[in-house]
Amino acid sequence: MTDASTAEARTDDTAAWWRQAAVYQIYPRSFADANGDGIGDIPGILSRVDYLADLGIDAVWLSPFYPSALADGGYDVDDYRDVDPRLGTLADFDELVAALHARGIRVIVDIVPNHTSNRHAWFQEALAAGRGSAARERYIFREGTGENGELPPTDWVSVFGGSAWQRVDDGQWYFHHFAVEQPDLNWDNPEVREDFLKTLRFWSDRGVDGFRIDVAHMLTKDLTEPLPSRAELELLPQDGTHPLIDRDEVHEIYAEWRKVFNSYDPPRTAVAEAWVSTPERRARYASAEGLGQAFNFDLLVADFDAEQFRSIIADNLAQATLSGSSTTWVLSNHDVTRHATRYGLPPLNGRPVKQGTEWVKAGGPADQLDRERGRRRAHAATLLLLGLPGSTYLYQGEELGLHEVAEISPEQRQDPAFFRGGEFDGLGRDGCRVPLPWTAEGSSFGFGADGAHLPQPSWFAEYAVDVEAADPSSTLSLYREALRLRHRLQTAESLEWVETGRVDVLRFARPNGWQVVTNFGAEPFDLGADADAVVLGPVDGGALPGESTVWIAPQELIG
Ligand code: NOJ
Ligand code: CA
Repeated sequence: MTDASTAEARTDDTAAWWRQAAVYQIYPRSFADANGDGIGDIPGILSRVDYLADLGIDAVWLSPFYPSALADGGYDVDDYRDVDPRLGTLADFDELVAALHARGIRVIVDIVPNHTSNRHAWFQEALAAGRGSAARERYIFREGTGENGELPPTDWVSVFGGSAWQRVDDGQWYFHHFAVEQPDLNWDNPEVREDFLKTLRFWSDRGVDGFRIDVAHMLTKDLTEPLPSRAELELLPQDGTHPLIDRDEVHEIYAEWRKVFNSYDPPRTAVAEAWVSTPERRARYASAEGLGQAFNFDLLVADFDAEQFRSIIADNLAQATLSGSSTTWVLSNHDVTRHATRYGLPPLNGRPVKQGTEWVKAGGPADQLDRERGRRRAHAATLLLLGLPGSTYLYQGEELGLHEVAEISPEQRQDPAFFRGGEFDGLGRDGCRVPLPWTAEGSSFGFGADGAHLPQPSWFAEYAVDVEAADPSSTLSLYREALRLRHRLQTAESLEWVETGRVDVLRFARPNGWQVVTNFGAEPFDLGADADAVVLGPVDGGALPGESTVWIAPQELIG
């Protein structure tokens, strides 16, 4: 159990607490279900705060828990300043924040500013008010093309597949980057801007410490006629002038948000989800005058390969220097195939790659999954990541070494990407969103009293929290030990590469002498005298086995 002294040790009370934080992403619907309706909820999370404290994380990021029809797993928000009644109440939320804060854990919530849901009061008003109304001006409505406006304004496709335009009863069309149920807001409208400032204050006033900003690079658009075709759009550079993506003026919005963040003590933090074209463009989101930090997703699209890891690490550390921010490491989240599975498949499998303008699923078939290898490599990659300067974002279930769940029938699937076949692999994202196994026995593996909203496979029993907590060699034990040691070893935000004489072995040292060595190859790597100073990870006869990582540290650092 966690006592006050370890909570204190974990909490960095300065305004810079986020710079090297380990942030744990909770996907609320699939974490823990307190009332047994099959959907995870806020009281469920509250019942597991000791688990979170024992894990040793610094902050949780809660994916959306707002009222929603769940057309896109909650990223279709009906009301930004409330809790979905199925997930709890605002009072439950306040209780959760207090319980996490009492354990030294910060709270980050998700803000979804690009689009509302189609059930949002504003969108309902826009439908009722008709063409030309002020209510329609909060969204992006256009007349169609064709003789009677029966064709969409352009041939643009949405991220989830299908047309990016939807026709309403009176014949106008509205733009949606994502699902039909997610109409894009018009960020040229001052009312939209004002309302989000209100939302940021609303959650900040409730004690929220930071925000994760959904598709932060998409908010502003230039839809001046004539609009380009899909083919033309694809060819336009994403250099700040593209009509839809990463436009320069989006930063005016974040400069306003920054004023709100800085009016709190400590200032509220923010991290941008911004898939942009270059490190320089990403750095703009991470600037101190803007959101302050931006996700680095490079490892989500890299193989388990020393050269790729090394250049991604070097580039991102250089980029962090550009923005003055700290970098962010991510191996898994709710949008991608779990990394234990990616690493157990032939290169590129389980994730989409772009070939020309088409997204295809590359690599060998899923039945080539080698679970043991995936687990081994996942351990190695995670230990490497947790040793790097900057913050790390962990996704619920990765601390159990969970694999992607493939056994979900089409009828049971929920992800709009599965049904519309867009920019995600053919199976969509449900496989990483299956409710967590807490116990090997019992209804829905301890997730809730009566079933889970997505089916859990029988092999989840082996990965249950109660099984792993009792096993010192489990993934959970490794994460707990790594996060505990990381707090002791954490040091200034830099590293120096140490030559290993092998292209498949990476080694770096942090300023206080903490070293990380990762063997990406199959041949053991001789650690020499350092074998005696290994504080975490496997050593076999003085050598680092293939596909594994060790931490080396002087005894006085871990005390
Ligand atoms: C990014 C989120 O991570 C993803 O889950 C969601 O579908 C889209 N943004 C749209 O909000
Ligand atoms: Ca529930």
